[in-house]
Amino acid sequence: MKRVGQPRHLRFAKALPVIAAAGALAAASAYASGGESAADERWWSPGEGRVFPEVLDYENEHGTLRTLLVGGPLDTEGHPFFEPISSNGRACVTCHQPADGMSLSAATARERWDATNGDDPLFAAYDGSNCPTLPQGERASHSLLLDRGLIRIQRQWPPAPRLGEEVVPDFTIEVVRDPNGCNSGAEYGPENGWISVYRRPRPIGNMKYLLAVGFNFDPKQGLALPRDPETGDYLSGNLMSDNRAFTLKEQMDDAGLTHLEMLRELTDDERDAIKAFEMSLFAAQQTGRGGAVDDGGAQGGPAVLRDAEPGELGSIGFPVWGEFAAWEEISEEDRARLTPEQVEFRQSVARGARVFRDRTFLVSDAAGVTTQMGFGNPFRVACKMCHNMTRMGNDVAPGQVDLGTTTLPFADHFGDLPLFRITCQNDPHPYYGREILTYDPGFALSTGRCADVGKITLQSMRGLAARAPYFSNGSAADLRAVVDYYERRYNIGYTEQEKQDLVNLMSVL
Ligand code: HEC
Ligand code: HEC
Repeated sequence: MKRVGQPRHLRFAKALPVIAAAGALAAASAYASGGESAADERWWSPGEGRVFPEVLDYENEHGTLRTLLVGGPLDTEGHPFFEPISSNGRACVTCHQPADGMSLSAATARERWDATNGDDPLFAAYDGSNCPTLPQGERASHSLLLDRGLIRIQRQWPPAPRLGEEVVPDFTIEVVRDPNGCNSGAEYGPENGWISVYRRPRPIGNMKYLLAVGFNFDPKQGLALPRDPETGDYLSGNLMSDNRAFTLKEQMDDAGLTHLEMLRELTDDERDAIKAFEMSLFAAQQTGRGGAVDDGGAQGGPAVLRDAEPGELGSIGFPVWGEFAAWEEISEEDRARLTPEQVEFRQSVARGARVFRDRTFLVSDAAGVTTQMGFGNPFRVACKMCHNMTRMGNDVAPGQVDLGTTTLPFADHFGDLPLFRITCQNDPHPYYGREILTYDPGFALSTGRCADVGKITLQSMRGLAARAPYFSNGSAADLRAVVDYYERRYNIGYTEQEKQDLVNLMSVL
C-alpha cells in the first residue's frame, strides 16, 4: 500500500475537511470539533487522488463521525479502493463513503442525485437503479436508492456451491409481485436463474471485530464452523446480510464483478491493498450532543476500537457499551464546564447503555436464536443478547438471525420491493409454516434452506449516526424507528424515557 509521510499530510490539510492531528486527540474538548466541510469535499469521487488522512472528521446531524487510518495518511492515487478500476466509473469508495461511516446514507445518495442530475456513477443502471430495464434518466427508476439507500443485489438461483459443497434448495421460490421488473421477464427472475433483492451497503472498517471468531462452532445452525480454505483459520460468518462471502477476499471479488461490473478479476496486489485498507480503518462517532465521546471518563470513539482487542463475549457479564458508564455520575468539575443539556445528554447515553444491557423482554420466533440455541421460545433477552460484541455490537457468535425485518407478517410493508412466496418442500419453517411471504429471503439465498428464510447477519453498530436508514432493507428511517420496530415486534413496553435513552446511546456509537 502506498503511504505518504507526515509532511504531505499537513500540506494537504487545507484542502481537506476538518482534520484533527493525532496529537490533538487527547486535547479534544467537550465541544464538537466544529468545522465546515463543503459538499464536494464530503463526497469522495473515484480517482480524485486525494490523501486519506490518519484522522478525518465529518459532521452529521448527531455530531461528528471520525475515521482513523492506522499507518495513515494514505495517498489514494492508484489505490484500488479509490480508483475507478472498471468501466462503470465507480470505485469501492462510491458506496463506502468516509462521511457516512464507510457506508452510504440515503440522504447522501439524494445529494449526489441533485448535484449531478443523476449522472454520478453511483446511479449505474446495473444496481444503482431499481432495474437496468427502466428508463435511467428518471428519478423514479432510482427510487429505492434515493429513498432508502438500497442497492440491487442479484443472487444466483438455485444458489451457487457453498464452501465447495453443492447447495440443493429445500424450497421453491415464486415471484408474487415484481414492481421493478428485475424478478421476471426474459432475463431476470428465478426462472432465468436470478433473484434480485435490495440492500443497504454495510459499513467497512472496524473489521477486526467483524472477523473475530468467538466460537469454534456455529451455534445458530448447530454446524461446525467453516474454515478458510487458504489459511485453515475458522471463519466468523459475520460478513454480508446473507453471508455469501466468508472472507474479505471473497467479498471484494464479488463486489468487483457486480458493483464495479469488472470484466476481469482483481489482481493479488489489488486484493492486498484493499484488504490492508479495510483492516487499518476504524470508524465511529467522535462527538455528539454531549460533546466528545471520550471526554469525562467515557471511552467512546474510534481510537478505543483501534486499540482494543475483540472477542470478549458481551452477553456473559461483559458490559457491551461499558465505555459510557462514566457518564452515569457527572463530576462537579465536569458540570462546571458543560452545559446543562450536555450533562443531561451524557446521563441519557449512560442510561441507554443500561437499557441495552439489562432491560429484558421476550423474544419469540427469532429463528437462529429461539431455534437452535436451546434457550427456548419465547426467550427473555436484552438488546445485548444478540448484539454482544464489546465496542461493536455485532454478534460474537457466528450465524444469522430472523428478526422479521424482511419477512411478512413482521416486515414493514413496501409496495416498491419485490415479494416472494417460499414453499418449503420438506419440513415446514418452525414459525412461518410451509408458505412464507418475504421481501428478502436473506441467508436462505446462500444455504437454500427454508429454515433460514428471513435470517440476516447482524451489522456493526458503530457510526450509526452517519448512515441512516437502518436494517438490511433500510426500513427504519432513523434511530427512533429502529427502537419502534423492536417495540412493535416484541411488545417490549419501553417507557418514552427508555426509548429516548436508547436513541441517544445509538447516536454516539
Ligand atoms: C454500488 C455500491 C457498492 C460498491 C461500489 C461497493 N459496495 Fe461494498 N457493499 C455494498 C452493499 C449493498 C453491501 C451489502 C451487501 C449485502 O449485505 O448483501 C456491501 C458490503 C460490503 C462489505 C461487507 C461488510 C459487512 O459488514 O458485511 C464489504 C467488506 C464491502 N462491501 C467492501 C467493498 C469493496 C472492497 C468494494 C470495491 C471492490 C465495494 N465494497 C464496492 C455496496 C457497494
Ligand atoms: C434476537 C436478536 C436481536 C435482538 C434481541 C436485538 N437485535 Fe438488533 N438486530 C438483529 C438482527 C438480526 C439485525 C439485522 C436485521 C436487518 O438488518 O434486517 C439487527 C439490526 C439492528 C440494527 C441495525 C444496524 C444497521 O446497520 O442497520 C440496530 C441499530 C439494532 N439492531 C439495534 C437493536 C436494539 C436497540 C435492540 C434492543 C431493543 C436490539 N437491536 C435487539 C438482532 C437482534
